[in-house]
Parts: sequence; structure tokens; C-alpha cells
Amino acid sequence: MSLSNSKISASILAANHSQLGRDILEAQDAGCDEFHFDVMDGYFTPEISMGPIILNSIRDIIKIPIEVHLMVKKPTRFIDAFSKIGVDFITFHIESDDNVKLTSELIRKKNISVGLAKNPSTPIEEMYPYVNFLDRVLIMCVDPGFSGQKFGYENLDSIRSINNYIQGLNLGSIVDLSVDGGVNSQTIIKCKEAGAKTFVSGSSIFWSGDIKSNLKKIRNNKNYDN
Ligand code: DX5
Ligand code: ZN
Repeated sequence: MSLSNSKISASILAANHSQLGRDILEAQDAGCDEFHFDVMDGYFTPEISMGPIILNSIRDIIKIPIEVHLMVKKPTRFIDAFSKIGVDFITFHIESDDNVKLTSELIRKKNISVGLAKNPSTPIEEMYPYVNFLDRVLIMCVDPGFSGQKFGYENLDSIRSINNYIQGLNLGSIVDLSVDGGVNSQTIIKCKEAGAKTFVSGSSIFWSGDIKSNLKKIRNNKNYDN
């Protein structure tokens, strides 16, 4: 299956942070469509990761859209700081403590697209009431916290259901359907069949081998050898 209409978003969390600029430029030059910047606070997730200071330090070299994935409690705390740096999407979690509608409005007021994410254990139906004021839905296929976890195949049902719901509202060209966690050259095909359009991938792009060939392999296109 060709993935030519899909977007690949490289998760910076999985890059080699001693060579962050180099890895980012390599992924960008290799034609990755978007960067995904994971923010973890040690409360919503077991781990902590990166914040606005790190993104600011690499902002200038990034020429493609950036999504900030807020895996934090009280995501509204971070909207201002990331809007000042300049990002394209802010995606926060339905399981966070803030009001979903209000948080979405605050993000949109900054002219930033709004994404809503859900953890594997949250029933997909809980996302339905919010779909019509979102730009993106992000389905986590691992528990948030780390790159390199195994894809949870049971999440494919959530992707299928929300895709049907989005299509049913005729919002297919407005609300992007995105997946994050365990996306590699095999699982991406299943996610695409289920209806996903944007694929966040970390360890499969950055952890071993060459970034350019890893990206080509994930795209799984017929021109892999070209
Ligand atoms: C996990 C993060 C992901 C992660 C993806 O909590 O939200 O974005 O970096 O990495 P892989 O593709 O290795 O699962
Ligand atoms: Zn993420």
C-alpha cells in the first residue's frame, strides 16, 4: 500500500540529543513532513522530557510544521510559552485536568491548530463530543511516557471508530486523524487501513541505522530503493 498521501511526523524525543540539530536536519532533509515535540511533566507521565527552552534552541532550523504533544497535567500552563516560540499544533490530552473546550479555545486564540489526544485506556466515545472543534485527533497506541514501546494492536479499533465518526460528520478534510506510539514500517500499514493520516514515529526513525532510509522504509512506498 502506498502511503503517499500520509504525513510522517518525526518524534524528536527519540533523536540523539547530543546531536539534536544534526538529527533534525537529517530528518527534515529526508522529507519528513512534520516534527512532533513531546512534553512530559512527571505527573501525567512517569518521565519528564523537554520544554519550551529546548524547542526554542532548535526552532530556527525547523522549516516544517511542529506539533507540541503536551502529556502534562493542566496543559493551559504551557500555551503561552509555546505560542511565543511559534508552533503549528498544540495537542493536549482528554485525560488532563483542564477543560477541553476552554483549552482548545485558548490554543486557537493564539492562531495555533488544536489537537486532542487520548490514552489507550480511554474509551474512544469520550472524544466524540469534541471532534467538531478540533483540527486533529491523536490516538495513542502506547501508554505515554517513552519512545520505543510496542504498538498496541487493540487501538486499531479506536482509529476505525473515530474515523467513521469523523467521516459521518463530513469532517474528513478538516479533522486530521493521527497516531502516536509504536509506529513502524509494519504497523503504519494497519493504522492507514484503519483510517489514520498522520503518523508519529520516534524510535523507528532515530534509534538505529540511517534516518533517510528509515523514513523511506516507514513510508513503505514503491520507490523505497530509489
Ligand atoms: C510516547 C510519545 C511518542 C514517542 C513515539 O509517549 O508520545 O511521541 O516518542 O516514539 P515511538 O515511535 O518510538 O513509539
Ligand atoms: Zn508524542
